[in-house]
Amino acid sequence: MRKPLVAGNWKMNGSIDSVKALIEGIKAGVGEVKNTSVAVCAPAIFIPQVQAGLQGSAVAWGGQDLSVHASGAYTGETAASMLLDFGCKYVIVGHSERRTYHGETDELVADKLEAAREAGLVPIFCIGETLDEREQGITEQVVARQISAVINKYGVAALSDSVIAYEPVWAIGTGRTASPEQAQEVHAFIRGLVAKESIEVAGRILILYGGSMKPDNAAELMAKPDIDGGLIGGASLKASDFLAICTAGG
Ligand code: PGA
Repeated sequence: MRKPLVAGNWKMNGSIDSVKALIEGIKAGVGEVKNTSVAVCAPAIFIPQVQAGLQGSAVAWGGQDLSVHASGAYTGETAASMLLDFGCKYVIVGHSERRTYHGETDELVADKLEAAREAGLVPIFCIGETLDEREQGITEQVVARQISAVINKYGVAALSDSVIAYEPVWAIGTGRTASPEQAQEVHAFIRGLVAKESIEVAGRILILYGGSMKPDNAAELMAKPDIDGGLIGGASLKASDFLAICTAGG
């Protein structure tokens, strides 16, 4: 039985004050969440504050990106070891906004996933098709290509310690959620792809849905057999909405 995970992706939002309030709000309500793991992925600069606020609580935390390099002359980058130093459990890799606005390729994303995993972080590996790709009917080819970039270079073992987040790009921040059926179809396809390499990893790996998940659609999405939680953007910035999604997971 896979224990669901709901992870907040705060993206580039927040201030010292708003982060403080959000953390306090989440901590105050997380006791109601029974059978779901909860995490927040904060902008790097807020991670020490998040660590100080969440240490000892049921909420884990993580980064939103990392460097493929261990250390050195890479201005502006954050190494896996730095995230670990500040208690991170998770790190998002390959978010569509990184792929689109920062030119991250499938290969770079695979390298980031491996750098995270090797260091002992749990990568939240984001994949998903654009609207144009969905309309062309190539959703499955796109997610297969994104996953193969990891499996071909690092083997299915690289996924055994990872979480996958299926995030259709057309659903991110648009208010246009994939229907539970649409999402389940792709999640089942993704699990099937992993199963071709390892039945064991496929049975165990968490596949989260992301893209306009909210309190009013979370339960229906997470009730699907291959949807093991969510990666939540906009709705993770309000403690009550985020907690309502977490409790919808169980
Ligand atoms: P959204 O973002 O929930 O605001 O659609 C999800 C994500 O980008 O991870």
